[in-house]
Amino acid sequence: MNLMKELYIFVLILNTCAANAGYVINNKKFPDNFMFGVASSSYQTEGAWNEDGKTENIFDNITHRRSDFIMDGTNGDVACDFYHKYKEDVALLKSLGVNHFRLSLSWNRILPNGIADKVNPLGVAYYKNLLKELKDNGIKPLVTIFHWDLPQVLLDQGGFLNDSIIDWFGDYARVCFESFGDDVQYWITINEPKQVCIGGYGYGFFPPMVKSQGLLEYECNHNVIKAHARAWHIYDKEFRSKQGGKIGITFDAPATVPASETPGDKEAAERRYHFEIGIYANPMYHGDYPEIVKTRVAERSKLEGRQKSRLPEFTDAEKVWLKGTVDFFALSTYSGNLARAIPEPPVKYPPSRDGDQGVEIFRPDTWNSTVSMNVKVVPWTIRYLLRFVKEHYNDPDILITENGFPDDGGLNDDGRISYIREYLSHIRDAMIEDKVKVLGYTVWSFIDSLEWMTGYRIKYGLFRVDFNSPNRTRTPKLSAKFYQKVCKTKCLSDVCED
Ligand code: NOJ
Repeated sequence: MNLMKELYIFVLILNTCAANAGYVINNKKFPDNFMFGVASSSYQTEGAWNEDGKTENIFDNITHRRSDFIMDGTNGDVACDFYHKYKEDVALLKSLGVNHFRLSLSWNRILPNGIADKVNPLGVAYYKNLLKELKDNGIKPLVTIFHWDLPQVLLDQGGFLNDSIIDWFGDYARVCFESFGDDVQYWITINEPKQVCIGGYGYGFFPPMVKSQGLLEYECNHNVIKAHARAWHIYDKEFRSKQGGKIGITFDAPATVPASETPGDKEAAERRYHFEIGIYANPMYHGDYPEIVKTRVAERSKLEGRQKSRLPEFTDAEKVWLKGTVDFFALSTYSGNLARAIPEPPVKYPPSRDGDQGVEIFRPDTWNSTVSMNVKVVPWTIRYLLRFVKEHYNDPDILITENGFPDDGGLNDDGRISYIREYLSHIRDAMIEDKVKVLGYTVWSFIDSLEWMTGYRIKYGLFRVDFNSPNRTRTPKLSAKFYQKVCKTKCLSDVCED
């Protein structure tokens, strides 16, 4: 490393540390209607993988075939046993005092064949009972229709690369609206489309584990976007007038902050957002992929000798159909990055998303780490993310659908408490100073659960689950007590201002 570069990085680190030095927690109360909640998902918590007519999803399938798929050799067969313990868990939710509980539906429990030829009455009854339990306890459900656990039978037919997925998903969503819509005001169609496609077809960490960044990954995106829009239109035409709910899709991104105030670095951060969020949100808000994404992928595809861009195109009719298919902006975020401008990366085979973005992303070592490689603790960065969303998607109502702190599971989880408090504080700052419209905040997660390929080692819960006991005993952590107080006082300090 040459001296100039070392100096540059040193100054940069000083700047980013200074960004948060002496920060004072916001003591202004949140509005009375601000939604405080907690989140979970079906595969990560339910267990009961083959009960009451449920068939195999892609994670059941791969974990049963390959004991090394999940690092600790575990799977979601029992998980937190939420399927059987939901009443006890709703009582815990009530004790927390949350406004809402984010849960997801298992596609296989409701449609054992993946398609809507046959609806499983026991699967539907299970979720109806759960929704009733929540209602009886005054907790509003925030329901995710699809949180990654695709029916294996649909993957066998091409999954998200088969454009039949648009109808498969639409038909499944219709069954959900029909069965549960009278009790649901906020729907999330798909959890984190970016992870669905990077996971399945980009980096390939989820089944079918195809590594095809910037190619099949983009085909997958194209169908995911249309599948979401199909569900939105079904709701809009067939259900909205009687059920009056709202439909969103959870976008996920770390916050990205320009590494310096130079125009190049600012443009790099902006471009990164267009690739991370805009590639999904832009078609839904404005009818097409962001210009920068279209131009860059087209140019690089040409240099690679391709006849057409690796980024698929929407027809004019599709653009009209896609535009306006989000009722609120659901956002999950855990951490932040710095972005720096770099010379155009060389065109290589195979293509890569990094090459398409052409931005250097990094995290200074001075930023606090956690047990997860993906999470550095930088709550102040969320202001940048919220401002980007406000500016680019018509100043939407934003619902934070996930934010949380990974650790190894101690009950005295001070790290989680300060993480949540600081994120909420910066969100409150953004509401006041940047006039960002944040509707609510949802902690990931309610209870410790199966953290995908890392298994049960990394914990996010406000409640500990004893995975060694057949009873899967729950114990509140200190963070549960802290969050309970926040839900009650709608404030982050002991002395609050209105
Ligand atoms: C995103 C996902 O929606 C959730 O399933 C996962 O457990 C958390 N982030 C934490 O990694």
